[in-house]
Amino acid sequence: MPLDMILGAQWGDEGKGRITDLLAVKADITARFSGGDNAGHTVTVGSQIYKLHLIPSGIIHPHTLCILGNGMVINPERFIAELDDLKKLGVDISPERLKISRAAHILTPAHIALDGAQESQRGGLKIGTTRRGIGPAYVDKAARRGIRAGAMEKPDTFARLIREHVAAANKLLERIYGQPPLDAEAISARFHQIATRLKPYLADTGSKIAEALEAGKTVLAEGAQGTLLDIDHGSYPYVTSSSPTAPGALLGLGIGPSFLQRIIGVTKAFQTRVGEGPFPTELTGPEGDLLRGTGENPWDEFGTTTGRPRRCGWLDLVLLRYAARVNGFTELTLTKLDILSGISPLQVCTAYSCNGLSSPNLTDTPDAIGSYMPVYTELPGWAEPITSVRSPDKLPAGAQQYIRLIETETNLPVRMVSVGPERDALIHR
Ligand code: GDP
Ligand code: IMO
Ligand code: MG
Repeated sequence: MPLDMILGAQWGDEGKGRITDLLAVKADITARFSGGDNAGHTVTVGSQIYKLHLIPSGIIHPHTLCILGNGMVINPERFIAELDDLKKLGVDISPERLKISRAAHILTPAHIALDGAQESQRGGLKIGTTRRGIGPAYVDKAARRGIRAGAMEKPDTFARLIREHVAAANKLLERIYGQPPLDAEAISARFHQIATRLKPYLADTGSKIAEALEAGKTVLAEGAQGTLLDIDHGSYPYVTSSSPTAPGALLGLGIGPSFLQRIIGVTKAFQTRVGEGPFPTELTGPEGDLLRGTGENPWDEFGTTTGRPRRCGWLDLVLLRYAARVNGFTELTLTKLDILSGISPLQVCTAYSCNGLSSPNLTDTPDAIGSYMPVYTELPGWAEPITSVRSPDKLPAGAQQYIRLIETETNLPVRMVSVGPERDALIHR
């Protein structure tokens, strides 16, 4: 005991990596459970900035075992590149402390080519994916023709499966999408070498997690993406292809809910989104630019994975209440509160209106939010910088009022407030 979850409450990039790094200090295991290298998690330790895509953020702490769970889709070439980058930074990436579930699915260059081809074909209706092959990899999983990581135990068989998979994808690429075929032989040969290197990382990760929990150890589930990108509960079809929510964490780790303790919803103090899809509180003018930043600071709102500018807007408590319902959050963590210093007044969406009727809760699934108008509660804000504040009562009155509004409106405690990207820029409440 226990299992704690760190989950994105919005459209991703809430600061899950930064919070995982903080809580991993006391975790025996840190595990990713869904998605792949579409995730980009930034951890800042002094002058060192770590950018993690597949490997859990706990890797930076030498004591924690890191797991890539069965719910993930893993591009092994990206995994190796990430291993090598971390090694250069002095991080221990030995197979003793990093395990890949044998049931996780392998993502290949064919999935990436299909993702790109499908996005191009969608034209104006594109989803704005990260083009990392995520959707096509989950399609193969659901179609029961995917290749699982466990196949790397036998590199010869694995190489054959990869060759056949690329040859099959080539038919789609050429005949349906008019794209050039990929070199199945060359990819197969590369993946043979990869299998030989990655074999020692394979494990039955579900039983490792279960044993740890039964022995009284702490397991941290590090979410990727966010609730509103969930394939079932997000703003479909502008979503990812996995389940980044609390039930998805159990599914993607291979354990039941009995050890569950904290379900932490991480939300920014405002709203951001990369890619297409509805965004009721979006600010397209200078206020949005103010929230986004110019790109000069590492924490400005430009994607960790794709470098795309993130769309920015006011905090949406209707959607946060929805995320709390879907995940069963037990608490909230508020990140990037420092960015709101000096912005006055502040608006927070506390209801949606449609045809003259206003409602505090979503009355439909989130794919319909494009037709709602946000109803705002205005707050005065605060002028002073807060990055060096470490205790809740030292926050300016306007910031305390902002946090209280979130707590009242969601009926959840905000137990951590992040006021900067650095490890120690945090207020416990
Ligand atoms: P994740 O995908 O949820 O892990 O979030 P990202 O790493 O993609 O994006 C969050 C960005 O905000 C990163 O650049 C973090 O370093 C940064 N960040 C996190 N918390 C804070 C904070 O409280 N203040 C500031 N200024 N930056 C933060
Ligand atoms: P982290 O873990 C923000 C978005 C993409 C696109 C949609 C589908 O860093 O919070 P995909 O490539 O998954 O098929 O793209 O999902 N998306 C993310 N947005 N943060 C992420 O991860 C994301 N992962 C996917 O921009 O809109
Ligand atoms: Mg991110």
